[in-house]
Amino acid sequence: MTDARRLDGKTALVTGASSGLGAHFARVLAQAGAAVGVAARRVERLNDLVAEIEASGGKAFATALDVTDLKQIDSAVTEVEAALGPIDILVNNSGVTAPSAIQRISEEDYDFVMDTNLKGAFFMAQAVGKSMIERKSGGRIINISSTLAHRVIGQLSIYCMSKIALDQMTTAMALEWARHDINVNAICPGYIETEMNADYWQTEAGQAFLQRFPRPRVGEPADLDGALLLLAGDEGRFMNGSVIRVDDGFAVGFK
Ligand SMILES: NC(=O)c1ccc[n+]([C@@H]2O[C@H](COP(=O)([O-])OP(=O)(O)OC[C@H]3O[C@@H](n4cnc5c(N)ncnc54)[C@H](OP(=O)(O)O)[C@@H]3O)[C@@H](O)[C@H]2O)c1
Repeated sequence: MTDARRLDGKTALVTGASSGLGAHFARVLAQAGAAVGVAARRVERLNDLVAEIEASGGKAFATALDVTDLKQIDSAVTEVEAALGPIDILVNNSGVTAPSAIQRISEEDYDFVMDTNLKGAFFMAQAVGKSMIERKSGGRIINISSTLAHRVIGQLSIYCMSKIALDQMTTAMALEWARHDINVNAICPGYIETEMNADYWQTEAGQAFLQRFPRPRVGEPADLDGALLLLAGDEGRFMNGSVIRVDDGFAVGFK
């Protein structure tokens, strides 16, 4: 039997919590009992989320964070730990795309995607991992990758490259930090409807794209809850270096 309050007493930090999946992950972790630090650049949205979580009886704290700035990473970790206690769970979720044909990709586009999705995620995990190692507490790091790590589509080359590298980062950290009792795993979501893409699925192009999926449907954020809570909670204690696709079979192939 799974305990609905399985994360009581734990502190989590979710990056990119100002919208979409990150905001959802923060709500789910708070409902499961964790005190949740929420971080991103759009602080007003984070403050609204904190108010919502607190109104539901949870505990949360907002901190400004640009993951491409290493100083901000350190200060966000310090602030969350001062406000909520040592971080037990990091959900490394911040991510961006810059859709473009390969021949038109600029150095700025390349750096924008890689610095956020890979470099930012690396140094975020490093900062939280260092704190866990110093405290000898162990912990969980959950990297939010993508089904597009395992199946490329046009116009998203740098994004796909960043996510497959994030998967390998996950396994490298899992290997080195096992001795510190830190489990590092990744979730690779398929297409999930969020405010950013909801309109697209209603367009002719969106509908045509859907018809090529093994099943013509997109997921909802709650479809990721099982994997998230598994990796965050005690049930996931024997999982380390796992890269879990939750994509309704998208990466398996087009029909
Ligand atoms: N939705 C999907 O279908 C899907 C599928 C597979 C994987 N994913 C992955 O899931 C994650 C969340 O995506 P989403 O769909 O929820 O998109 P989203 O709504 O655009 O959320 C992206 C989040 O990342 C944050 N972010 C962007 N740049 C940042 C930076 N420099 N520093 C800190 N935070 C930054 C944004 O916050 P600020 O702008 O406020 O900083 C925002 O909260 C991403 O890693 C994405 O690749 C999504």
